[in-house]
Amino acid sequence: MTRSYISGWGFHVPEKVVTNDELAAIMDTSDEWIRSRTGIQTRHFAAPGEGPSDLAVPASKRALQRAGLTVKDIDFIIFATFTSDYYAPGAGVLLQHKMGFGNIGAMDIKMQCSGFVYGLSVADQFIRTGTYKHILLVGAEVQSTALNLTDEGREVSVLFGDGAGAAVVSATEEDRGVISTHLHSQGEFAKELCAPLPSTAKQPWISAEDIEQGRHHPIMNGREVFRHAVNRFPEVIREALEANGITTQDLKMIIPHQANIRITLEVARRLKIPPEMVFSNIHKYGNTTAASIPIALSEVLAEGLIEQGDYIVLAAFGAGFTWASALLKW
Ligand code: UT7
Repeated sequence: MTRSYISGWGFHVPEKVVTNDELAAIMDTSDEWIRSRTGIQTRHFAAPGEGPSDLAVPASKRALQRAGLTVKDIDFIIFATFTSDYYAPGAGVLLQHKMGFGNIGAMDIKMQCSGFVYGLSVADQFIRTGTYKHILLVGAEVQSTALNLTDEGREVSVLFGDGAGAAVVSATEEDRGVISTHLHSQGEFAKELCAPLPSTAKQPWISAEDIEQGRHHPIMNGREVFRHAVNRFPEVIREALEANGITTQDLKMIIPHQANIRITLEVARRLKIPPEMVFSNIHKYGNTTAASIPIALSEVLAEGLIEQGDYIVLAAFGAGFTWASALLKW
């Protein structure tokens, strides 16, 4: 039976590090508030003119190198982002060009924080059916340019950072890789966390007045998002375990989307597992949306925290609302 597994991985964050104190110098917040409410200490902001497809290039090169492959070996690109460089076309085609891939297919996935797990699920289907052998799966975001870095935007803007993570998803006949994926959405909560503009339902899609009124910034009902996240994460992790007849006892590690350390700790508490089993690197990067899981996975592997044969779960929750999980045998 053909399965898909992650044969290469890598990440890249922009050079510029932004500390909590730097944010506190331009808005009414503090290092103490941000650390205690979110766990975040620093995040990275892209340079002017740098888009997610640019951040994706070094991350993808590292993933290809790790897999021992070249651009010629890749059959398809899946690019998870909700902040593509242009409104259209998507970031996948830009990456195809910037990396010098052949004229292979490139698909964008706009599923916000769940984008990488949704993308892994799509890659898995293409590989299991024998359509492709090697797929480049990227999660990358430049969110800093959309943030309202004033007192009014503080609840949202202290959370988010920029970055890119990449994985090569390859075919194998071995007993390893993606075991199952579980995808969900609930659009009735779309307005609880969204970037409403530009909107094609408006003419023009965005106006000078919209910008004057600050309607071009992302908006979030933080408490409502938090409340759903702490329910959906454990639920979708249990779904992945139950679908395969295993329990948390069989798991080596959970690599969740990095939203807030308090969410991560609450997930561990509700699953009755030690907090160290739920990986966190939010202190360094903040919430990088679709990039957070592949960045976290790269760090888990660099730190040698998982070995071949270990079961791990990737899990995400975010805007949409969307949530998703994947059980992998490493
Ligand atoms: O990938 C999914 C993306 N989003 C999320 O996962 C976000 C989920 N939500 C959260 O992480 C949390 O709700 C937040 C971190 C956004 C907020 O934490 P909270 O503990 O829910 O705080 P709160 O909204 O209850 O606000 C507490 C206080 C308020 O002041 P008052 O009303 O008590 O006077 C806020 O105005 O903290 C104030 N506040 C801030 N103070 C300093 C809100 N943002 C800030 C800030 N700095 N940045």
